Amino acid sequence: MAIERTLSIIKPDAVAKNVIGQIYTRFENAGLKVVAAKFTQLTQSEAEGFYAVHKERPFFKDLVKFMISGPVMVTALEGENAVLKHRDLMGATNPKEAAAGTIRADFAESIDANAVHGSDSLENAAIEIKYFFG
Ligand code: PPS
Repeated sequence: MAIERTLSIIKPDAVAKNVIGQIYTRFENAGLKVVAAKFTQLTQSEAEGFYAVHKERPFFKDLVKFMISGPVMVTALEGENAVLKHRDLMGATNPKEAAAGTIRADFAESIDANAVHGSDSLENAAIEIKYFFG
């Protein structure tokens, strides 16, 4: 299987809940290794740029507002099949639909505050990692 990299963000709700360590333990146990990390508070323009692909969606403003509401933990994770593995660990976008035992089922409250972001493809992972880490 291919060694890949994916971009992972622990969102402000999960940082505020003090569960960064519990989430990273899941990544580590699944064989995903942190290869770059940044604990930061996103600016409005950084968040808007990151989510630019969604700028016409009705939730865009709220998503940006939420993502700048507190610090986030941004990491590049590396491992076998990292993109899909990370998405499986996250669970569905809406925590109410997320499978039991996934990060969103265990730590997220709502579709607006859903604990984690993960790249949805290898191509986007490369773009997103470059966005944050150059
Ligand atoms: S899509 O259609 O597959 O691209 O959309 P999806 O991946 O489900 O969602 C894209 C990101 O938007 C967030 N999202 C929302 N935020 C606020 N309110 C609502 N209703 C909402 N729906 C989706 C979702 O969490 C995704 O953010 P990231 O950071 O990529 O997980």
